[in-house]
Amino acid sequence: MKLGVCYYPEHWPRQQWAEDARLMGEAGLDLVRLAEFAWAKLEPQPGRYDWAWLDEAIEVLAGAGLEVVLGTPTATPPVWLTRQQPDILRRDKNGCFRDHGTRRHYCPNSPTYRDHSRRIVTAMAERYGQDERIVGWQIDNEFGGGSTARCYCDHCTAVFQTWLSERYGRVEQLNEAWGTIFWSQTYADWSEIGLPHDGLDKPNPSHELDYFRFASDSFVSYQQEQIDILRRLAPGRFITHNFMGLFRDLDQFDMAAALDFVTWDAYPTGNPDRWRQLLYPPGSDFSQNDPVYAYDVGEPLLINMAHDLTRGLKQAPFWVMEQQCGHINWGDINPGIRPGTPRLWTWQAAAAGADGVVYFRWRATVLAQEQYHSGLRQHDGSPGVAWGDLLRLQAERDLLAEVTAVPPTPRVALLFDYDDLWAIQLQPHRHDFDYLRHHFVFYQALSRLGIPVDIVSPQADLSRYTLLIAPTLHLDSSHLDLSGFEQSAIANLTGLLLGVRSGFKTASNKVTMDPLPGALRPLTGTTVTNWQSLPPGIGWPLDSEIPDLIGPATYWTETLQPETAVPLVRYADGTAALTENVVGNSRVYHLGWYPTLDQAIALLRYLAPRHGLTPLADRLPPGLFASQRGDYLILLNYTDQSLTAVVNGSDVVVNGRDVKIVRSA
Ligand code: GAL
Repeated sequence: MKLGVCYYPEHWPRQQWAEDARLMGEAGLDLVRLAEFAWAKLEPQPGRYDWAWLDEAIEVLAGAGLEVVLGTPTATPPVWLTRQQPDILRRDKNGCFRDHGTRRHYCPNSPTYRDHSRRIVTAMAERYGQDERIVGWQIDNEFGGGSTARCYCDHCTAVFQTWLSERYGRVEQLNEAWGTIFWSQTYADWSEIGLPHDGLDKPNPSHELDYFRFASDSFVSYQQEQIDILRRLAPGRFITHNFMGLFRDLDQFDMAAALDFVTWDAYPTGNPDRWRQLLYPPGSDFSQNDPVYAYDVGEPLLINMAHDLTRGLKQAPFWVMEQQCGHINWGDINPGIRPGTPRLWTWQAAAAGADGVVYFRWRATVLAQEQYHSGLRQHDGSPGVAWGDLLRLQAERDLLAEVTAVPPTPRVALLFDYDDLWAIQLQPHRHDFDYLRHHFVFYQALSRLGIPVDIVSPQADLSRYTLLIAPTLHLDSSHLDLSGFEQSAIANLTGLLLGVRSGFKTASNKVTMDPLPGALRPLTGTTVTNWQSLPPGIGWPLDSEIPDLIGPATYWTETLQPETAVPLVRYADGTAALTENVVGNSRVYHLGWYPTLDQAIALLRYLAPRHGLTPLADRLPPGLFASQRGDYLILLNYTDQSLTAVVNGSDVVVNGRDVKIVRSA
């Protein structure tokens, strides 16, 4: 496992660099990431490159034994480019252009910007691509960050029209797919189609969904240009990008496909309260939340979910390219961090499948926007709060290496699809129906039960799982190859749990005219005869034989008419609420209501042994989390109290904000 740090030599006097490099070595760090915002320093005037400072920084750092990861600096175009070529600027949904003075103010579809991006990346790669001290490249920085995933400029309009013509072939087909007969929206030519900007009251959801897809594809193709250059000029070096965990505006599966591995930026105290409002059931009282996590660890479930999704992007280990190591500056409260917490976060990442953790940042900056952000060293250069943790981690490096030698191998997959997410976001039907929140119920239930899970695309390799959980497969799922259910061709798969709002729409976001759940009916062996959103306080009693799976069904209910399936749970009127259908060697469960956490736990506890799943611990008190890599069970305690797990019949005590590694074989 690699440990590293993000370093900005351009922010500090040169005389400081050697001492910084020496201290990095003293802290046991293996690598540094450099230059991802340094375009203005690397090319101060058009076509005049200044490599001397970066050459020297690399020399000093590599001389101290550190490997170097270079960032391409395209998140921050220099002012000469912005002023000479204002058509590179990104335009917001409200029509305003983003201006120079911060970052990510470019449009990925601007031909001018693409030319300049290719030019600076080519120049950098020609200079450093074969340099043996450079082990890898990070492309750009946090695509989509600061609400920049979607641009509404004229370039985007033109490229969107081409994208649509390639997708639909003939404009009549687009009219059909979008249902433009509604409200006289019919188009006669591609050039008439605009973007769903703020000037439209209630855009057509088919139009908007395609625009979201297009915006995501724009970054995929923008990134690909840089990948192509680096593959050619920097052979053998890894290429990655730093994603943003549960960020929802880009299809991270698509973005990840051409990268060697993915990384993400983990800031656990970055507004966990706002995330909790989104993820936990509407109206949750967090002051009563049990367990009470330590105040400086953030929301561990949220971070775990982001780790698990990041690992699922390529079904492979990943890195944390920016790991919070002290307080941040962009949250609501920005709590101070205590010694012990950075080590806990490092182990949390390792347990979840990280093979590298790079701390953000080396030294707290005295400059500009991030003055209040901490680093491994404080503003005055003295050790920051994480310094002692780094020294402690040095003593644990052998153990970290052993634990991370084998990737996590969950046998449950939670299916996650950005098209579905966007479609539900565009038409939630009830304002608080959120795709991520819906997934979170199942995720949290698995976590409470100690059952590891991969969060993967429906197009992933599903053969490694025994149970798939699809809280909703909302849009046309004909792309989802579940033929294995029939032929038992999906090697290990024995179960699929399918939730509400499934099979509801076509790929272009119109409601299907087929009985629900549409194309999934042969799998579920049911028909949805009625669906509804229930007002708060209204619930339907349940008649269930599954232990602890008690009613009422609330929030969203669908009544199921079994055809080949058999009911496992019924509503009070006798209609089916949960069914089981045998398909080949597998069982498909159709869940007709949006479960509470307790209901999801009861259901998954019932399904686990039926699908060969054994929890990692016999008992996990709230606040204690379990992960497995190879033979190692990793127990992480996010509270301030000691907690006791029961593993294979024995008590295992884990101190507050501490980790315990148990060798299981
Ligand atoms: C990240 C970003 C870094 C830095 C950091 C501060 O999102 O990639 O450049 O701004 O936040 O927490």
